[in-house]
Amino acid sequence: MTDPITVRKQLDLRGQIWEWRGLGQTIAYVPTMGALHEGHLSLVRLAKQKADKVVVSIFVNPTQFAPGEDFESYPRTEDADVKKLASVGCDLVYIPRKGSMYNAHHATKINVGGVADGLETDHRPTFFDGVALVVTKLLNRVAPDYAIFGEKDYQQLATIRRLVADLDMPIQIIGAPIARDNHGLALSSRNEYFDDQGLAIARKLNLIMAECSQQIRSGKDIGEAVSQATSALIDAGFSEVDYVSLADPETLEIITSGQYSKPLRLLIAAHCKGVRLIDNCAV
Ligand code: PAJ
Repeated sequence: MTDPITVRKQLDLRGQIWEWRGLGQTIAYVPTMGALHEGHLSLVRLAKQKADKVVVSIFVNPTQFAPGEDFESYPRTEDADVKKLASVGCDLVYIPRKGSMYNAHHATKINVGGVADGLETDHRPTFFDGVALVVTKLLNRVAPDYAIFGEKDYQQLATIRRLVADLDMPIQIIGAPIARDNHGLALSSRNEYFDDQGLAIARKLNLIMAECSQQIRSGKDIGEAVSQATSALIDAGFSEVDYVSLADPETLEIITSGQYSKPLRLLIAAHCKGVRLIDNCAV
């Protein structure tokens, strides 16, 4: 287990990438905000299978947090993150300095439409603008052959696929399956905010989601299944349900009624003990 190279400056990143490119090596890249868990590490393992060298970035991106969200309190665990990355064979960790991402004159905005509209955007209107901007900058800086994103953030993955295709970035985007704990709860850096009671409620989300998916597959009306799942979440202790939605897996066009006739994606966002959880599954 060798420690990854840690770089903080864009110039040092470029130097290393050029060196590998000069040797004909391919590069896979996993962007993260740190506080790494098994879900992130599963992306790194997938990256290792795809390319000769694996780059992971850690940057808590301020532009994707709205005022009042948890930017300040977002867990920052850099030393532990680097150790975890060493254990899965990451070659380089890029940790840009706080001030180096957005200079004082920064004026460019990136707004992805279509798949980025609705769902998360109805509740976090500027979130994907922030994600699209930082991911564009990071992809330009790292210039990888492959970039890996988790299906945990399904709409984010769809948004980045759109962005990369629309802006002609020569990068293959790879989606990775959702890593879950042994109760089925999708792993998330924000799960750290839960006490035992919160965790017990949170772990019901995937069960309610699976039940909803099953009912739709068995022919229940989509609208009815959605309202039943919404009530089940409230009964389980969720304080607020942002959405329970069925969407086309590619276009993310929402389907509100009727019976199952083609593959769908079920996406849920709900609040539990002050933490906002998202999850999704194939139907
Ligand atoms: P972050 O939440 O740190 O997630 C980094 C990557 O890990 C994302 O692609 C996310 O989908 C994936 N991931 C998180 N939990 C996962 C799980 N349980 N199973 C599989 N993959 C999981 O997403 C972001 O950071 C940011 O928006 C970022 C893309 C880095 C831009 O700032």
